[in-house]
Amino acid sequence: MPLSSRPVILDGDPGHDDAINILLACSNPELEVLGVTTTYGNVGLNRTTQNALIVRELIGATFPIYPGADRPLIAERLSAEAVHGESGLDGPDLPVPRRPAETLHAAQFIIESVRSRPGEITLLPTGPLTNLALAFRLAPDILPLIREIVWMGGSTDTGNWTPAAEFNALCDPHAAQIVFESGVPITMFGLNVTHQAIANPARVAAFRQLGTRVGEFTAVLLEFFAEHHRLRYGWDGGALHDPMTAAYLLAPELFAVRPMRVDIDITTGPSAGRTHCDVWNVTGQAPNADVAMQVDADGFFALLVERLAGYR
Ligand code: RIB
Ligand code: CA
Repeated sequence: MPLSSRPVILDGDPGHDDAINILLACSNPELEVLGVTTTYGNVGLNRTTQNALIVRELIGATFPIYPGADRPLIAERLSAEAVHGESGLDGPDLPVPRRPAETLHAAQFIIESVRSRPGEITLLPTGPLTNLALAFRLAPDILPLIREIVWMGGSTDTGNWTPAAEFNALCDPHAAQIVFESGVPITMFGLNVTHQAIANPARVAAFRQLGTRVGEFTAVLLEFFAEHHRLRYGWDGGALHDPMTAAYLLAPELFAVRPMRVDIDITTGPSAGRTHCDVWNVTGQAPNADVAMQVDADGFFALLVERLAGYR
């Protein structure tokens, strides 16, 4: 289906890969970024919000930024400074934002936006799902009005924060359950697919070779992001998780997705936060999500470089 200025709201916890997702989403006319809502996650809310302001300043964009949840619904707050640094965007020199964030809460912005454009808006969460869950509980009337959710989170196999759970899902399993039980069409990009897209040195060099401020910013972000992955997994680069959400809207042909039942583990035991994905439909339960299983990694990185080349 040809894209024609598809309205989207990005919800995330920038974060290196969230930041690159914002760059990708804002790099083209096919997507209309109505706003960016921020949540705790990789680092605290104040810092993820500051990082969204920084990315907006870097590209001279005008989208509004709405801070949201500073903690999960019930669980204890986690954070990932070990991966993203104290600032949440360690590595590159960061511009000083000149415009502040909005005062309206992220959940309220999502509600008001969806009500004003029924059936049109796609939500692209790339962090914990707390803001979406708050919006859905505050205003259940918006559920049938949301076009789609495209989420980076979960995994059909192992976790990255515990053996069972991926970070975004584990941050707020109750919020994830609310979202996956909402009936809103959702496409999930879990670690099983994002770990297929490693930003190795050759791919990082392609951003640097753009010879632009955004290209250099992206290359330095990825070089910092690689360090955690090198130490943890022995890889020669970081797994580029979050930009798969915007890439899916821009080039769905790069991905293979499969409908399946996904249940969120809200226990407090070792499987807490696991996305139980019924890959082989052994339960016979009706699917409640499309789950990405494969990516053309070279095509994904080529799309990113091509679109980020548009920034001068
Ligand atoms: O597990 C990876 C996810 O957790 C990514 O979205 C990363 O930014 C962190 O939020
Ligand atoms: Ca994220």
